[in-house]
Amino acid sequence: MNKISATFILNHRQVTAKVALGMVALDYIRNLQKLTGSKQACRTGDCGACSVLLGRHEKGKLIYHAVNSCLLPMAAVHGCHLVTIEGLNTAELNPIQQAVLDNGGVQCGFCSPGFVVAMTAYFLNAQTANLDEFVDAVAGNLCRCSGYMGIKRALRQLLQQYPLNNSENRLQDLIERQILPDYFVAIAPRLAEIPILKTPSNHDAIMVAGGTDLFVQRPQLLAASQLKLLESNQEITLTQQQCRITASTTLETLKNSPLLQSLFPQFKKEMEMIATTPIRQRATVGGNLANASPIADMAIFFLALAAQLELRSLNGETRSVRLQDFFQTYKQIDLQAGEQIAALSFSCPPQPILFSFEKVSKRQYSDIASVNSALFLELEQETIKTAHLSAGGVAAIPLYLAKTCAYLQGKAISNEVVKQAVNIAQTEISPISDQRGSAEYKRLLLRQLIIAHFLKLLPDLLNAEDLL
Ligand SMILES: Cc1cc2nc3c(=O)[nH]c(=O)nc-3n(C[C@H](O)[C@H](O)[C@H](O)COP(=O)(O)OP(=O)(O)OC[C@H]3O[C@@H](n4cnc5c(N)ncnc54)[C@H](O)[C@@H]3O)c2cc1C
Ligand code: FES
Ligand code: FES
Repeated sequence: MNKISATFILNHRQVTAKVALGMVALDYIRNLQKLTGSKQACRTGDCGACSVLLGRHEKGKLIYHAVNSCLLPMAAVHGCHLVTIEGLNTAELNPIQQAVLDNGGVQCGFCSPGFVVAMTAYFLNAQTANLDEFVDAVAGNLCRCSGYMGIKRALRQLLQQYPLNNSENRLQDLIERQILPDYFVAIAPRLAEIPILKTPSNHDAIMVAGGTDLFVQRPQLLAASQLKLLESNQEITLTQQQCRITASTTLETLKNSPLLQSLFPQFKKEMEMIATTPIRQRATVGGNLANASPIADMAIFFLALAAQLELRSLNGETRSVRLQDFFQTYKQIDLQAGEQIAALSFSCPPQPILFSFEKVSKRQYSDIASVNSALFLELEQETIKTAHLSAGGVAAIPLYLAKTCAYLQGKAISNEVVKQAVNIAQTEISPISDQRGSAEYKRLLLRQLIIAHFLKLLPDLLNAEDLL
């Protein structure tokens, strides 16, 4: 049985959809509900034309996020408020739509519904008015004709009109400002009446977390398969210097975590280089690791923190495995049938942590890495007590550079030591040439990234000119 009977509120109407578990919301909205405002273009999460708002109760509060409906399985929509552009329309253009129009941000209009949805999500969630964050909120939306300047002017005008300060009840404020239609006010109690849906668990079911990888890779197979939607239980905790992150934590939750931002000062900026806001809203840490892409950013980040994984079998037994042992060969991981990643943890040494993450991609934002790398160092005076170095895009798996780390241990920091570490790292990697660069180029990138880590972390102990 791969069908679901999902009950949810679609714009202002409660509906029950009897559809395949793996049907994506975009197909349901456009083909079955004939709501054609959400556009279909890439179907890979890259363009944002299909953006919708997904509202659901999180820790007792109704929270809305913009997500890509082309990667959103109907199984994930049960009990939620699904809002398409039609659900934001009122008799007149709403202030967001008007600002886009007035500022020349619309030409053919194909991208406009997606932009308006993403902008509305920003207004629903932003703490303070900030143009950079507003731009980041629409970074997952592409426009191919009007150009981005008109859209940026609209963002700037909207922030001036609605500064977002002192907003105690954001939903109510946005209704009063006519950014949201009135019916939003009654959604929370209506959602609370929808019973929780229990899907039978099946050993052979394909596990789906955010679906942002699966629905790009295998959409047809998923539409016809039994799926197991993993429960969302997002927790980031620090106990006795152990930081623990549950696998279902999304990359956007990670990015906004005050704890992680305090441990890693560059964290928010680094996370902005990973995918786009709507993808990060759904993409989970567990999915990033289990996916085992050789360039998975979270894998590279947490390998350099010597993270441990907590794995849980179907009958609830748990075991622990080092992340560096989890990746075996290309896309092969140490995970038994039915077993899932429950959490990852790493020990936090006393502050300040010396940690650097670097990523090079063809585009700085909204792109996967050509090569990525992270370095953690613990020093005793000027001698390296512990080093953990990882690299992606240079082998069949996300790589922990064990020999380089062993070499660095106990060494006094010097240019010669860094140069030798770079040489040893070159013996540990086996990049291949592909569309993201030649093997030779990737070797060069890793060399530069390792040097960049050291210069970033220890600028006073090294001579940059000599190293570069
Ligand atoms: C437009 C776009 C941009 C992207 N950019 C980046 C990027 O910059 N950097 C990057 O690293 N990735 C990127 N990705 C890839 C993807 O979003 C991430 O890898 C994401 O973290 C996957 O998580 P998910 O929850 O969506 O996984 P899913 O698609 O749900 O699952 C992926 C795999 O993991 C398995 N799985 C999921 N959770 C668990 C678990 N808890 N235990 C065991 N198995 C599990 C699933 O069965 C499946 O095999 C991008 C994807 C898209 C579409
Ligand atoms: S159709 Fe392009 S992101 Fe969904
Ligand atoms: S206005 Fe045509 S794609 Fe944006």
